[in-house]
Amino acid sequence: MENLRIDGERLWASLMEMGRIGATPKGGVCRLAATDLDRQGRDLFVRWCEEAGCTVVVDRIGNIFARRPGRNPDAPAVMTGSHLDTQPTGGRFDGVYGVLAGLEVVRTLNDADYQTEAPIEIVVWTNEEGSRFSPAMVGSGIYAGVWDLSYGLERPDNNEPGKTLGGELAAIGYAGPEPVGGRPTKAYFEAHIEQGPILEDEEKVIGIVTGAQGQRWYEITVTGQEAHAGPTPMKKRRDALVASARMIDAVNRIGMANQPNACATVGFVRVSPNSRNTIPGQVFFTVDFRHPVDAVLTKMDEELRAACATFAAETGTEAEVKEFWYFPPTPFDADCVNAVREAAAQAQFPHMDIISGAGHDAVYMARVAPTGMIFVPCADGISHNEVEDAKPSDIAAGCEVLLHAMLRSANG
Ligand code: GLV
Ligand code: MN
Ligand code: MN
Ligand code: MN
Repeated sequence: MENLRIDGERLWASLMEMGRIGATPKGGVCRLAATDLDRQGRDLFVRWCEEAGCTVVVDRIGNIFARRPGRNPDAPAVMTGSHLDTQPTGGRFDGVYGVLAGLEVVRTLNDADYQTEAPIEIVVWTNEEGSRFSPAMVGSGIYAGVWDLSYGLERPDNNEPGKTLGGELAAIGYAGPEPVGGRPTKAYFEAHIEQGPILEDEEKVIGIVTGAQGQRWYEITVTGQEAHAGPTPMKKRRDALVASARMIDAVNRIGMANQPNACATVGFVRVSPNSRNTIPGQVFFTVDFRHPVDAVLTKMDEELRAACATFAAETGTEAEVKEFWYFPPTPFDADCVNAVREAAAQAQFPHMDIISGAGHDAVYMARVAPTGMIFVPCADGISHNEVEDAKPSDIAAGCEVLLHAMLRSANG
């Protein structure tokens, strides 16, 4: 078993082929959840899995499970996977790497005619990114019982009124018949690019992910009064955009004030009516706070609410601050983390422990199964960007570690 090696060139070729679906002119990928491009990516994955002899099922929120049987058909499966959806200006590796690394594990086992004790499953989670439908990690969240199915099916398209995740999944043929959740799972491993600069800076090839930082997401609606940009004196205005600009600056300041480790981002703004000569009457924006310590997230929450109240009062507007999504810092399972560490050490890849800055389906899987993650470096630590890049040798190394961590679990 120690001698089994994945085929790095085959994995790279599959990544590049998947990257053509939704390819953008700048070398990235736009394959938003439950679009026709998502369907094409899913179809390709399903075809590859069937060619590799797997049995494929789809659940009612569109999560896909491809199963390679084990010697013991009743044993809980060792599962791996990630997501195929991308950001609007996403890259070729975020998510898809974890899915196709799982496929490469299965192909490697097939080539060696190697039978694991436990079955192996590769999963594609629906709507991990949260950019077309929010929040993120919806497929894995429903799987883990964080929300019920109807919450997921009803998620509205962030830009196209009337469209829902459920409707769009049905339209692409991926609202499957299987119930969501409850697949007996011995362990879940997810390989992913780091999406930050730490491994590259430290010249490590493998990140042994010990857990993920917590997140709080908000939706803030600021209401002032629409009025004419000419006749309305400055002092009489109730400008929702001016209020929001001060709040957005406060979000950044809260991030800066809670260093080290705090992150604070406003990534989505909708101004209404968005007309050059009308004072904005309403602004909707989102806030994304992250920190590895829950108490700091709570402090940031208080600071945000105080800042919004102050700037609303200052501008004669009203601010509704709605917490939209939250998950606490999540430690991963000690045995899974160890399996990853031992696999990295056995292959003699330079490695280090790391905490995930991003959210991943693994965060929700950790609630229902022993879970671990494997990170590999990405160029300049850039992700959620079309220029996202990674070295073929690092991509292969992460998959090698995935294979051996999964084998430890599947045979142990
Ligand atoms: C997932 O892409 C995240 O925002 O962490
Ligand atoms: Mn991802
Ligand atoms: Mn992402
Ligand atoms: Mn993600």
